[in-house]
Amino acid sequence: MNVVAHTQSAAHIDAPAWVQHEGLKAWVAEIAALTQPDRIEWCDGSEEEYDRLCAEMVAAGTLRKLNPEKRPNSYLAWSDPSDVARVEDRTFICSATAEEAGPTNNWVDPTEMRQTLDGLFAGCMRGRTMYVIPFSMGPLGSPIAQLGVELSDSPYVVVNMRLMTRMGRKVYDVLGTDGYFVPCVHSVGAPLEPGQADVPWPCNDTKYIVHYPETREIWSFGSGYGGNALLGKKCLALRIASKMGRDEGWLAEHMLILGVTSPEGQKRHVAAAFPSACGKTNFAMLIPPKAFPGWKVTTIGDDIAWIKPDANGKLRAINPEAGYFGVAPGTNDKTNHNCMESLRANVIFTNVALTDDGDVWWEGMGPEPDHCIDWQGNDWTPGCGRKAAHPNARFTVSAQQNPAIDPEWDNPAGVPIDAFVFGGRRSDTVPLVTEARNWQEGVYMAATQGSETTAAAMGKQGVVRRDPFAMLPFCGYNMSEYFAHWLELGAKLSAQGVTLPRIFCVNWFQTNDEGRFIWPGFGENMRVLKWMLDRLDGEAEGNEHVLGVTPRFEDLSWEGLNFSRESFDRITHIDTAAWLKELELHKELFDRLHDKLPPELRETKQGYIARLQAG
Ligand code: GTP
Ligand code: SPV
Ligand code: MN
Repeated sequence: MNVVAHTQSAAHIDAPAWVQHEGLKAWVAEIAALTQPDRIEWCDGSEEEYDRLCAEMVAAGTLRKLNPEKRPNSYLAWSDPSDVARVEDRTFICSATAEEAGPTNNWVDPTEMRQTLDGLFAGCMRGRTMYVIPFSMGPLGSPIAQLGVELSDSPYVVVNMRLMTRMGRKVYDVLGTDGYFVPCVHSVGAPLEPGQADVPWPCNDTKYIVHYPETREIWSFGSGYGGNALLGKKCLALRIASKMGRDEGWLAEHMLILGVTSPEGQKRHVAAAFPSACGKTNFAMLIPPKAFPGWKVTTIGDDIAWIKPDANGKLRAINPEAGYFGVAPGTNDKTNHNCMESLRANVIFTNVALTDDGDVWWEGMGPEPDHCIDWQGNDWTPGCGRKAAHPNARFTVSAQQNPAIDPEWDNPAGVPIDAFVFGGRRSDTVPLVTEARNWQEGVYMAATQGSETTAAAMGKQGVVRRDPFAMLPFCGYNMSEYFAHWLELGAKLSAQGVTLPRIFCVNWFQTNDEGRFIWPGFGENMRVLKWMLDRLDGEAEGNEHVLGVTPRFEDLSWEGLNFSRESFDRITHIDTAAWLKELELHKELFDRLHDKLPPELRETKQGYIARLQAG
């Protein structure tokens, strides 16, 4: 606790001896002079520091300590009701030109944005502590890792960053006297006047989540929640890293990474992109049904993948994170047993309900309690008409608590990717699974992926929006160029004779006339996963249609599951009229992106239309 009382001048930042980086110290001094915190604390990432900050937050009312007998060493935070998810309409990519940010990102001229932010950040940390949070995305010291330092006035951010990243003093050993780091500035935007009492969840109605891709800087104001505030995650590991990847020939993706081992011991790796709250954590921790004895799924990552060609051109993926910030509602012992096991202790819950015995509860966790306190602090009883947990309520937990963690999850060399899977929430039209015939068709499917919106992004729910590669809110540059980057990388590797990963498109979410999911999902997704792996080996048949290859009923294993041929036909059928409409929606996306759209994508679409019209 290297705390100083005066931060008006750069001389008083009082860095501890283990910080030897003059550039970092100068930057801390500069930001302190701007934001004027009462104190600066240089975080070391120790358990002692974590415990102390949690205790301070309990005293301040930000956290509640859960019953140690039910949920050891765990806490519950309730956010302000206005601060419950990422704010996409307040997220900005401030490239030098609007064209570089592209039509799907919010853009403001960087000079203008800097002026705005200078105004907002001036004095914004008054009355608070500024924490200096050093972190590594990716294994510490690995050549593929990226270091960042987040300056934040939120102790909640500090403790979450300790679970989500490799955070602490060890980062300074790698950083040395002049190492590169991505500077990240975060404020909840709620300065305190002398004597003014704090609130449990300070935040500001004005919110800005700002990225300067050229200078690789991140500035976030007004929110303390998730991806708005834990700047290593979406801001660095996706928006800034996607731009790095474009410049340097690699990929930063909104993907889980899993390993599948067959009973014979053959191991494959799959990376899958689903939009927010569409099942990445569940798929990454899948437990195969009983009818698949000897099959094992292991987790490398549940949200973000950095994927680079190795010396032989094989695409290898790492998970830059070290923890899970996962959706709580819907998670239970049946849907995700491994996740429930991960959550037994040492967890920070946000916006779930508090039970009368000091534990947590959320919709879909299990039997409803007779009474609990909802995420807004009100009494809740079954049938009261309100949700006990916010639909985007989350848990933060270290990846090491996952019983299905892959032994290679921390390997700086990553794991070789055999297949890419793309999917979204579609109640109709999009079949259970389709294999693209080639890389270009796969890129097309991913680029035109749509999903019904979820609670993970503020805004209207249940509306289909295009979410290319599940990256719409996370691409740090022009989406058309991002498509081109995927196409170019595939072409380059093919030319080197590399076998590219196969590309599949899945949809677990078709509903029947009553609005119920037709496909049982969760562990049963293993049946689809197995088909995909068999396709890689040339051991599974399928029906080739206009859009690619989809299994016939007899191509999947049905042992242990009662699923009718009729239901299967419904969720694998290609409805020509619906697809012609769907392709019209793809056209809307392409029109929006037309400036730099790779011509291959339009050509692919024309090919589909021609074949659909030919019947
Ligand atoms: P972010 O962390 O927001 O990026 O999302 P994620 O993709 O990791 O989301 P997560 O896995 O937490 O998705 C949670 C939601 O998806 C819950 O509502 C689950 O019930 C639902 N879900 C996950 N897998 C399936 C499935 O196979 N079938 C159905 N019907 N729902 C699923
Ligand atoms: C998502 O919304 O895709 C998340 C949660 O993974 S957050 O970190 O808040 O962005
Ligand atoms: Mn995500």
